[in-house]
Amino acid sequence: MKIDPFEKLAMIGGGVLLAIFLLAIIYANFDLSIKIPTCEINTKPFTSGAVIETSPKSYEVHVVARMWFFDFGENQNEITISTGSRVTFFLTSADVIHGFKIINKDINMMAMLGVIGRLETTFDKPGEYLIVCHEYCGIGHQGMYGKIKVTE
Ligand code: CUA
Repeated sequence: MKIDPFEKLAMIGGGVLLAIFLLAIIYANFDLSIKIPTCEINTKPFTSGAVIETSPKSYEVHVVARMWFFDFGENQNEITISTGSRVTFFLTSADVIHGFKIINKDINMMAMLGVIGRLETTFDKPGEYLIVCHEYCGIGHQGMYGKIKVTE
């Protein structure tokens, strides 16, 4: 069987790109210690939000994304913490798939029903951090937001 030279080139190029992507993931994981977000299997499923202070300046925050707000507990869509706080976010959804992106921070997750996502970060600078849903989730999507206030 004769293979068109351009087709052969495309297949080789695709293989090389796959190898580069795989090496980049391995390098990021082991050399840069950038962990790929995974599903959390050691946390009990939850249906309402909660902010748990585990030690001074260290929080576990349970977030339930639902049409159309982020529930941090008691129907609040914002939390206040102090500068230097380390926050571990546990994220799930009560209905459809939502996005959870904190502007100007390294937090970007998807919220899915029946799945808990986990990421952590430190808030080194005071200010207000907007959280947006960046996955279309119905007619109220554009108004779905939350906020993290970081005090001095
Ligand atoms: Cu939730 Cu878009």
